[in-house]
Amino acid sequence: MSKQSTFRQALLGGALAGLMAAYVVRRQQFAELAKHYRFPIGTALITGASRGIGAAYAEKLAAIGYDVVLVARHEERLIEVTGLLASKYGVNADYIVADLSTQTGISTVVSQIKSRQDIAFLVNNAGFSTTIPFAELDARVVNEMAHLHVLATAKLTRAALPFMIANHAGVVVNVSSLMGFMAEAYHSNYCATKAYLSTLSQSLAREVAGLGVTVQALCPGLTDTEFHDSADYDAWDRAAYPRFMWQSAETVVEYSMQHIREGQSGMCITGWLNKALVLVVRHHTIAPPLMRLFETVMRVFTAQMARISNAQ
Ligand SMILES: NC(=O)c1ccc[n+]([C@@H]2O[C@H](COP(=O)([O-])OP(=O)(O)OC[C@H]3O[C@@H](n4cnc5c(N)ncnc54)[C@H](OP(=O)(O)O)[C@@H]3O)[C@@H](O)[C@H]2O)c1
Repeated sequence: MSKQSTFRQALLGGALAGLMAAYVVRRQQFAELAKHYRFPIGTALITGASRGIGAAYAEKLAAIGYDVVLVARHEERLIEVTGLLASKYGVNADYIVADLSTQTGISTVVSQIKSRQDIAFLVNNAGFSTTIPFAELDARVVNEMAHLHVLATAKLTRAALPFMIANHAGVVVNVSSLMGFMAEAYHSNYCATKAYLSTLSQSLAREVAGLGVTVQALCPGLTDTEFHDSADYDAWDRAAYPRFMWQSAETVVEYSMQHIREGQSGMCITGWLNKALVLVVRHHTIAPPLMRLFETVMRVFTAQMARISNAQ
């Protein structure tokens, strides 16, 4: 082996060891910060809290003592969840029936936030997607998604921030998605609106840094909820994605809350696999070939799984 290549290997080894040491030190700093973190006192308002990620967030916050206000369209499920949280954790659990894909629904929740003056933790989580080609998408759906993902999040956050800033304490979690980093066919509007949420949250996180307020763009990957059960997803095959790619709603929430405890704001990508995916898709020059490779690996994996289950 030449002297030059030995030197190169030593340099690479040194750089890797340095990176690992920096990572370990950073993790220790985060662990220390997490030990002393205190969640802001007040009430938590969570949209889309009747099931899935929103319900898991509501449960986690109620478990640490938050009074909660849950928002969704279907009252029966809201009654069920608020009843459960009140009896299990002894907190005040209220709800607002509102369709946040409409201007009226948004205004209802905005006025509640303004009049209550006690929302210290806001989770903008309600969302939906479709798999319909954009050229065939009903204009009504385009309008609803823009209201639900973009306008509701912006306006509810705008209504809650002054109270948080005045108290020098508050958390806003905007549930975005890995899709906000992607440009997926048949999910154009979803990807675009989620990209808005991620950018808004990251910019806001900088704007309120030092004012005691944490803003997070929570970016989950595939999450096991009812999200993919709508009629629009009939042709979409859950089984095409291997089990290890799926996370539970509780795991997603745990990542989010751990980031907050560690004093991190801005982007929260849930887990190393999702972070690796983002790294791939963000790098525009390598993204297409890597995505093709990823799709080929997935096809082979799925075919193998099908062969194994047929053989059993
Ligand atoms: N599941 C995933 O794989 C995944 C991945 C990345 C990001 N996300 C994001 O995570 C968030 C939560 O999704 P999820 O997986 O928990 O979905 P989910 O199980 O379908 O829950 C969606 C929640 O939002 C509420 N909601 C829907 N439309 C609404 C509207 N117009 N107004 C008010 N509330 C509304 C629903 O209640 P009602 O029907 O009663 O209104 C429900 O409580 C979404 O923003 C989604 O984009 C999900």
